[in-house]
Amino acid sequence: MCGIVGYIGEKNPIEVLINGLKNLEYRGYDSAGIALKNESQIQVIKSVGKIANLEEKIKEENLITSHLGIAHTRWATHGKPTEENAHPHTVGKVTLVHNGIIENADELRNKLIKEGVTFHSETDTEVVAALINKYYENNPLTAINKALTELKGSYALGILFSDSNDLYAVRKDSPLIVGLKDHEYFIASDIAAIIDYTNKYILLDENEIAHITKDNVTVTKNNNVLEKKVETTNMEQDAKDKCGYDHYMLKEIMEEPVVLQKTFKPYLEHLEKLPDLTSYEEIHIVACGSAMYAGMIGKTLLEEYANTKVEIDVASEYRYKNIIYDRKTLVILISQSGETADTIAAMRKAKENNVETLAIVNVKTSTIARESDTQIFIEAGPEIAVATTKAYILQVGIMALLAYKTALTKNLVKEEHKVLEEAEKLPRLIKEVLDRREEYKKVAQAIYQKEDIFFIGRKIDYATSMEGSLKLKEVSYIHSEAYQAGELKHGTISLIEDGMPVFAIVTDETIKDKTISNIEEVKSRGASTILITNEKYQTDDLQIVVPKISPYFQPILIVPTLQLIAYETAKLRGCDIDKPKNLAKSVTVE
Ligand code: F6R
Repeated sequence: MCGIVGYIGEKNPIEVLINGLKNLEYRGYDSAGIALKNESQIQVIKSVGKIANLEEKIKEENLITSHLGIAHTRWATHGKPTEENAHPHTVGKVTLVHNGIIENADELRNKLIKEGVTFHSETDTEVVAALINKYYENNPLTAINKALTELKGSYALGILFSDSNDLYAVRKDSPLIVGLKDHEYFIASDIAAIIDYTNKYILLDENEIAHITKDNVTVTKNNNVLEKKVETTNMEQDAKDKCGYDHYMLKEIMEEPVVLQKTFKPYLEHLEKLPDLTSYEEIHIVACGSAMYAGMIGKTLLEEYANTKVEIDVASEYRYKNIIYDRKTLVILISQSGETADTIAAMRKAKENNVETLAIVNVKTSTIARESDTQIFIEAGPEIAVATTKAYILQVGIMALLAYKTALTKNLVKEEHKVLEEAEKLPRLIKEVLDRREEYKKVAQAIYQKEDIFFIGRKIDYATSMEGSLKLKEVSYIHSEAYQAGELKHGTISLIEDGMPVFAIVTDETIKDKTISNIEEVKSRGASTILITNEKYQTDDLQIVVPKISPYFQPILIVPTLQLIAYETAKLRGCDIDKPKNLAKSVTVE
């Protein structure tokens, strides 16, 4: 949940490191730090808060001349976000940055204290530095290898030794790549950190150690030298620019028509490229947060229209439950980053039980992409805003196509040509929905000063409500909850008071009359309802009416309205939209 970048080469590392950190800030941003190294010394500078604070601090320092450095942006796990706890950490001759969690840190710390080590932070990272230092005589690789045998948990490490001019890196269960350019080398948690300099990189696998000098990289595992493949990414540089938008979140929402066109349409035209779910007796969908809500839409569609039994769970529960795999099962993992720790653990659990795994994933180099049996890449491009938007839309799009293909295979689709015609129109229709910004601003004006908001819906509209509620609360910090419309009266309705906004999602033909009755119930208790629908109702409620299309694809037109309402509301409240407090883009700890 932190970001690492490192550099060795001709340039002054400061520029590369700060630029890299800014590109990684989405991974966590409560403190940051750098370490610069030259022949005689290591200079460490750290600060609490965003990278901009670190940049200010660096300006005040007398910097050493150097061509080697490591840097880190932190999202606190062990210990508060203070300067002492910020990385890099130095113990003896070892200075390092770390992403991940060392599970046996307390045990190791106690042992090291008994051996005479004094710790200055509450972090598990300092324990790693102390352990490597303990084993360091004059051979960095030996020291790292020895320390690895004692570490339990996840780590990506960038390591400097005070009497060596080289950079070392190693990883397990946390991402880390080595970027390559003529006479320049980088390490990074993610290619986004170094894309301004190179698009070539090596993927480090579990416990492989990269020894990087100013002239070359050697990767070893258990002291054996490995031949590593050089990968090239086509990530476009402009994916990282705001392109004139005030925020990445807005830019990424506005990209939805383009990414739908690029990814969704080819699958729509070649359904044979999608896996056949009918060969399984049971489907499990496992994911976290918004990805899980995309899965809920998939489950509803598969059950409703493709007569397919689906279980769904959040990955943090699934990984620890007693799952009975007694039928031919497919586990579908949905993840934008492909690095979400709980989703990775759920995938590994399925694999340990010889159950097939299908990943619906965005980042191709990610752990989930690499370890799952089959992958569907959503090709959303880099998503920088912490709150997912375009990737979520594509996750829903792929789930909808899987449900549609399954229904088709089972001869359950009634008006095939109509469904296809409507699906074809989606990129254009979503563009029309996005262009109605004034309507969303009006809704935002009506709600931005409220402190509690409810979302209600039934069946697929409930799944959509969950995402609408999450998006609103995470970026605007307004407390909001989503309920199945029929469930409200079993307790929660006592919270409804005069003027409280209640969003009602009403698109499902099979159940909308019931939802309308529930809307009346909350209105008669004082709620101000906002209808998000696919047909106009004769009421004086605020209404957002999107084009009506096949139920398979209706959520793809509803969710962008909720995303933009969340965005406009957060903007009116002056929130840090792209980096909401306490969050990180990639949740690589459980
Ligand atoms: C919310 C959001 C999160 C993620 C969740 C899973 O806007 O972005 O809820 O959906 O953390 O992340 P991935 O998809 O990377 O596994």
